Amino acid sequence: MIISINRRNDKENYMKQYKIDKENISTLEALEYIKENIDSTLTYRSGCKSGSCGSCSILVNDKEVLACKCKLNDDITIKPLKNGTIIKDLVVDLEQTAKLLFKSKAFIEKFQDINIKKEDEELIDLQSTCILCQSCYSTCPVYSVNKDFLGPFALTRVLRYTNDKKEANNTKKLDAIQVNGIWDCTLCGNCTIACPQFIDSKTDIMNLRMKSVQNGYSDPTIQSNDFLNEFNNYNDFNTGFNPNSF
Ligand code: SF4
Ligand code: SF4
Ligand code: FES
Repeated sequence: MIISINRRNDKENYMKQYKIDKENISTLEALEYIKENIDSTLTYRSGCKSGSCGSCSILVNDKEVLACKCKLNDDITIKPLKNGTIIKDLVVDLEQTAKLLFKSKAFIEKFQDINIKKEDEELIDLQSTCILCQSCYSTCPVYSVNKDFLGPFALTRVLRYTNDKKEANNTKKLDAIQVNGIWDCTLCGNCTIACPQFIDSKTDIMNLRMKSVQNGYSDPTIQSNDFLNEFNNYNDFNTGFNPNSF
C-alpha cells in the first residue's frame, strides 16, 4: 500500500510517498512502521494508542480521524489537522486552543460544596468525555477565518460548567461567550460530525444561545437588523418586509 504524507520542514510543505507491505494495521501503526524502518525523521504525535488521549488526531483522505482508531485498507493521504500552525510534519501547535479555553472561562470559577445527584452527573456526562483531539477546530469554517472565535470544544465546555451544580457562578459564564462566541457559529454541524467522542457541539452552542436569551442577552445579528434596513433603504420605500417574520 502507498501512504502519501504531507511533510513540513522549516521552509516548505511537500508530499512524500512511502510503500509499506502490511495488512490489517491502524494508521498510527503505519506511521510507527515508517518511522522505525524507513524514515526516522517523520514526526507525529501519539499517546495512549487506544482512542482516549486525543493526541494522534490527523487528516486521513481529508477527514479528521484518530490515527490509532483508523484502520488502513487502501492507499491513503495523511495530512496534519487544518486551521492550526504546523510545528513539524503532522504536529500542530495547541497553544491557541488552550488560550481560547482560558478566555471562555471553561472551568470552575467559584466552587460550592453541595451533594451531587445522579441526574446532576448526567447533565455533564457527555461533554466531560472530550479528549481535546482538536478535530472540531480543524473542521470549523468560522475558526478557519477567525482565530479569536472561541470554537466548538471551548463552547461545549462552557455548557458543561454552566450545567455543573458545583459551580456557584454558572450563569456568569455566559458573559464570556457573547463576543467571538455563540452568535458567530454558523451552526453548520461540521464539529458534531468530526467528533470521535460523539459530542454534539452544535447543539451545545444552541443550548448556550437559549440560556443566554433567558439571561437577558440577545442575538446581535438580529438586533442590528442590517439586511432589513439595507433592503428598505436601497428601494427607497419601507415595504414592511421582514424576511424572518418577527
Ligand atoms: S457548528 Fe459552529 S462551532 Fe461547529 S463547526 Fe460549524 S461553525 Fe464551527
Ligand atoms: S469536542 Fe470532540 S472533536 Fe472537539 S476536541 Fe473534544 S473530542 Fe475532539
Ligand atoms: S494515541 Fe491517544 S487517541 Fe490516539
